[in-house]
Amino acid sequence: MRLGRVGWPFLAGRAPRIVRGMRASEIRQLIRMKPVERDATRRRLAACHDIADLRAAGRRLIPRPVFDYVDGGADEELSLRANTRAFRRWRFQPRALVDVSEPDTSAGFLGSVAPLPLALAPTGFTRMMHPGGEIAAARAAQRHGLPYTLSTMATTTIEAVAESAQPDLWFQLYILRDSGLNKELVDRAAAAKYRVLVVTVDCFVAGHRTRDHRNGLVIPPELTAATLASIAGKPGYWVRMLRSPAIDFANFAGHPAVTIEGTGSLFNPAITWDDIADLRARWPGRLVIKGPLGPADCLHALSVGADGVQLSNHGGRQLDRTVPPVETIAAVREAVGPDVSVLVDSGVRHGSDIAVALALGADACAIGRAYLYGLMAGGEAGVDRALDILAAQFRLTMQLLGVRSVAELRSIGRELLAGGV
Ligand code: FNR
Repeated sequence: MRLGRVGWPFLAGRAPRIVRGMRASEIRQLIRMKPVERDATRRRLAACHDIADLRAAGRRLIPRPVFDYVDGGADEELSLRANTRAFRRWRFQPRALVDVSEPDTSAGFLGSVAPLPLALAPTGFTRMMHPGGEIAAARAAQRHGLPYTLSTMATTTIEAVAESAQPDLWFQLYILRDSGLNKELVDRAAAAKYRVLVVTVDCFVAGHRTRDHRNGLVIPPELTAATLASIAGKPGYWVRMLRSPAIDFANFAGHPAVTIEGTGSLFNPAITWDDIADLRARWPGRLVIKGPLGPADCLHALSVGADGVQLSNHGGRQLDRTVPPVETIAAVREAVGPDVSVLVDSGVRHGSDIAVALALGADACAIGRAYLYGLMAGGEAGVDRALDILAAQFRLTMQLLGVRSVAELRSIGRELLAGGV
């Protein structure tokens, strides 16, 4: 092989020779040419190798007020930052020389088995991030065999999601002031064969989302000087939005568009555990309480008939300065015993975060922003990419930890962890 000094063909004036002493045909034999990806979305997603990459891609494409609605948290965002930090504080002490050629990443929780200990958490206004919205996320969840939770504040109806995608469907309920509407939503979810009802208990008044106030976020977006500037900066987003149906609260048509802050007036701040008992009596499927942060409220949830809990501080979007949910896993597991499904969300950005949660005693994690960053970066394919990334990271973490199955990770987990709180 003769590799001389690199010379540019136009300088050398000899087109076929791009390396001195070598012909283009000879070089082609040495370098496997990567086919050029013509589809811009696929090209963009292929360049994303972790959730942070998807976040950066979404940020480039989406107007600031919408990106901030997803990315931001309450008040000074202390909880938002602490959530991710709390997962990352742990260090692994792996086991060597275990046969991990076929790690089994499947996990059972809430009476079903999924290929990964992961669920998609409910997120409101999802069509604002991409017109594909809830259906795109539900289809990606189905492709990965994972549960998808539809929010009360969804921009697609309970029925339309169930008709368009068939993942393990869960419905999330905010208990609203209008008790008739609560019953109607629950009955519709049961009729549409949603398997799990997730009742959120940390959002009976709306948290103070500082970025949304600063940005004056209104749904649908009002035509202001700021909106016009953002149209100029992100034309692709606006073209997609203008071509798709207006964004509204799909599940309770007739309610006028309100500011994001105004949605708080729909919630009932007077709810108590008695309301959960009423819902338990009405709902035929599994019931999960989303938002308890410690053993006392988890035991309360079980005492009114819940089948599981989802430890959560709403991704740092409600009460700022709450304890990161991951820090409550061990105490909750000890209190509720081995058989109750314990999920945790708020701060999951990497497959190794899921491994930490399981090692501490959780059955599964749920994600909000991680899949929304994917949705903003590339619609349904972007959610797929986010789930592919997390699945690959979790599998690799299991292998490098020296564990062969999720059951094994759960049973010897504490031996594999050092550091933490
Ligand atoms: C949410 N979350 C949420 N929770 C809920 O019960 N009902 C809802 O309608 C919403 N809406 C919503 C919108 C957006 C944009 C985000 C980011 C989150 C909270 C969500 O279900 C979950 O608890 C958090 O997202 C978990 O934290 P991470 O994964 O985002 O860090």
